[in-house]
Amino acid sequence: MNRLKLILATFLMTLPALADSSPRSHEIFNFDWKFAYGHPSDAARDFNTGTGYFTYLAKAGYGDGATALAFDDRTWRDIDVPHDWAAEMPFDAKASHSHGYKTVGHGYPDTSVGWYRKHFFIPADDDGKRIFIEFDGVYRDAQVWVNGFYCGHEKSGYQSFSFDVSEFLNYGSDNVVAVRVDATMEEGWFYEGAGIYRNVWLTKTAPLYVPQYGTYVTSELDAQKAIVSARVKVTNKRLTASGFNIRNSIVDRTGNVVATNEADGDLHSMETSEFVCRLTVQNPVLWNLDHPNLYKLVTEILEDGKVVDVYKTTFGIRTIKWTPDKGFFLNGEHVKIKGTNNHQNHAGVGSAIPDALYQWRLRQLKEMGNNTYRTSHYPPSPALLDACDSIGMLVLDENRLMGTTDELLLQLKRLMERDRNHPSVVLWSIGNEEWMIEGNDRGARIAAFMQAFAKTIDSTRAINAAVSGNWNNGISTVIDVMGFNYLRHGSTDAIHEKNPWQASLGTEEGSTNTTRGIYFDDEEKQYLAAYDRDTPSGFFSIEHGWKHYAARDYLAGMCIWTGFDYRGESTPYTYPSVSTYFGMMDLCGFPKDNVYYLKSWWSKQDVLHILPHWNWPGKEGQLIDVWVYSNMDEVELFLNNKSLGRQKMAVNSHLSWQVKYKPGTLKAVGFKAGKKVLESKVETTGNPASVALSSDRNRIKADRRDLSVVTVSLKDKKGRDVPDANLPVSFSIAGPGKIIGVGNGDPASHEPDQFIDSIVTVPLINWVQKPLDEVSINDVIQPGFDAKLWEPALRDHGLDPGSKPVKMVFRGGFSLSSPLLSGKIEWMFRSVATNQSLYINGHEVAKAVRDDSDRYLFLLDQSMLHEGFNSVVIIGRPLVKTNPWDEMNNSPGSIKVSIDAKQWRRNTFNGLAQVLVQSTGEPGEIVLTATSPELDDAHLVIEAGK
Ligand code: GAL
Repeated sequence: MNRLKLILATFLMTLPALADSSPRSHEIFNFDWKFAYGHPSDAARDFNTGTGYFTYLAKAGYGDGATALAFDDRTWRDIDVPHDWAAEMPFDAKASHSHGYKTVGHGYPDTSVGWYRKHFFIPADDDGKRIFIEFDGVYRDAQVWVNGFYCGHEKSGYQSFSFDVSEFLNYGSDNVVAVRVDATMEEGWFYEGAGIYRNVWLTKTAPLYVPQYGTYVTSELDAQKAIVSARVKVTNKRLTASGFNIRNSIVDRTGNVVATNEADGDLHSMETSEFVCRLTVQNPVLWNLDHPNLYKLVTEILEDGKVVDVYKTTFGIRTIKWTPDKGFFLNGEHVKIKGTNNHQNHAGVGSAIPDALYQWRLRQLKEMGNNTYRTSHYPPSPALLDACDSIGMLVLDENRLMGTTDELLLQLKRLMERDRNHPSVVLWSIGNEEWMIEGNDRGARIAAFMQAFAKTIDSTRAINAAVSGNWNNGISTVIDVMGFNYLRHGSTDAIHEKNPWQASLGTEEGSTNTTRGIYFDDEEKQYLAAYDRDTPSGFFSIEHGWKHYAARDYLAGMCIWTGFDYRGESTPYTYPSVSTYFGMMDLCGFPKDNVYYLKSWWSKQDVLHILPHWNWPGKEGQLIDVWVYSNMDEVELFLNNKSLGRQKMAVNSHLSWQVKYKPGTLKAVGFKAGKKVLESKVETTGNPASVALSSDRNRIKADRRDLSVVTVSLKDKKGRDVPDANLPVSFSIAGPGKIIGVGNGDPASHEPDQFIDSIVTVPLINWVQKPLDEVSINDVIQPGFDAKLWEPALRDHGLDPGSKPVKMVFRGGFSLSSPLLSGKIEWMFRSVATNQSLYINGHEVAKAVRDDSDRYLFLLDQSMLHEGFNSVVIIGRPLVKTNPWDEMNNSPGSIKVSIDAKQWRRNTFNGLAQVLVQSTGEPGEIVLTATSPELDDAHLVIEAGK
């Protein structure tokens, strides 16, 4: 159906300002979800979803169980997304090593299926619009229903997906979207989280509109101008044909329209077509790493002169080139790739990384001199790519699974169509270390096929695959840009000589194992010293690897495995260690010493860093290995003002001294061209005397999404950071902020990352019945009353039409364990009779409860409850159907027990911990307080505002 319509460009000298009069809205849909665990195989624990006679796959709108609009989700937890329930889970030695021993996945069916529901109102006058629910990513195997209508299924834990739900909606009233997420199966060999862990959006458009990711903007530079080609898809979801105008304008950073053109189009009903136009930008400001200038293509669709849709595409104007002998060029300038691989995983929140935290993480990488981010090994969050565009970070964008069936190619296509307008994306990776195929002909066939296919979707970028060994055969013989994973596997020189046509880079190097703040290996605690070393299994140190890549022009550069630690893959250890040792930074983003090596040789800043710290009680007189990372020409080291010698620094190296330990001050002085430029020191500190809090930003947006990254440190009396202090710290918060996670970067810590209210649903069970006139009320409401011989009750969905019901007594109950008795206990009651009287353990809970609303909430006084079985009595006339096919409610609801979260706390690990503080939406002053026994408290004020 795709007709390519070429539009002639008209460059207007005087350009009108753009008014955003589009009916399109694109709003965050993250708030006020409900969450509960379901079950992969036990239907009853999966809310009996899909068990009806006719259900969602049989008939449209027949979604039952938790998918139905009327389903009672009041006992479910209130949450906002992004949400990763694995981050809330404890650790278990029997759980998956790859996933950091969290109790999710096969083996843990009770916590592997998560249900999400969200009620939302759609105004009556939205009728006629197209309404989409867009998910940036759900881990994994997500099925989606709206108002009981099955929308579809997304198996991938990493793709973005959306549904046009317009026809399924109730206009002018309540709607519900239900999402069943099944994280039983793993896609990767690393922590992947579980749940709706990325943003969700609600988008409304006219029926004539630009579909999501429906634009493709490329540019060619020609002397002082850029010729921008915009391919724009337009969809007509009217039941009739549409004629329209399409106006494309390019808007610069300051809001000025710098190019525009307009053309006609027409589409049949249900047709989507692509419209191509060319626009000229005079003297374009290019996107580069230091000044990541962005433009917007604003596409307006006009019918009878009226704007019916406005779609904005952010893009950058820049050129890229991968060359076989000189590496990578951006805008004609050589850029050595100084990259890191990263998983989407952070302390405290797991994979549910808010946008502001992605931005913070990128700032840490950029500060280190890192200019490239490889999205190993899956489609990244759109929020990450937006942040890379605006901070100036190159991206190697990676596909998940290699293969050439339609389904697998579609996965690659969706990734590329979604991401191809991002100027930061400079290379597509079709796969990583596909051991079964990377060294053989089948691999070469698959890679060649995928590469050719990929170029039909984006011909402006080269294609890469990351290969671990087998560099002579298979994939490496066909791929545009060869990705070397680990120099230990062979000689890049030999491959380059054999394939002089091929560009190449180190897609993975490093995999070194270090623990922040540790300088002596500790096998018992599973900590590894932070000195940069080749590993016993043959991986090169960071310095060893970088020297190889830096020395060879034909190698475009290297990406370290990894920038940040992540959960899972705790090589070389297994349980109790639960996260990696690979990172240049720990799980919180606190720098390990390697960061300063890289900063010395990757960044433009002057660096002078000494390791280790100088608190070594008990090691007096022993030799300590002192290293200095620096980009000075020479460095002189002093202990307590006594020179230990001045050494020349070789490029891409470090310096070391063997120093006999004596408490005091170790000082380094850095010289450039013989002149003293920098001085830095480490001092033996006293014991911790106070807690200190500092944050990356003291002003955040009061938007319920923005956050502040707070560092917790311990200071001695003189205000010096104590680098080896491991003490408990507790946190409390006041004002419009909440803590969403804590961490400390200890790879073997089993402390919780989150302290959340626990919500338990207790079912009402064992229902039996008898007519009231056969018994005495006073007797039957007594807890000890024996109703064993009564007949079973509340099984049918109402009496037949015309029945004349007699008053009945229904007896049942619920069990409470003693920890639950301390919680807030509510009966989420639903009517099962008319004019109901309700009793618990002989106490009257309510009288004359009408059946015209079927939902009531009764807060139960703890004094009427006890441990064990609590008896419940309902007296009233059973419900009668109006029509034979009616289904009257037969569930008297359930008991919801809420137990308040314990106070947030975390031990510092080698002097540091981290708290993530998020806005709750209202403006005002957030005050975070940190306390530790016998230390002075700390208070931090964060302003939430516009
Ligand atoms: C590589 C792999 C990475 C990570 C790393 C750990 O082989 O591509 O995902 O597992 O090893 O050393």
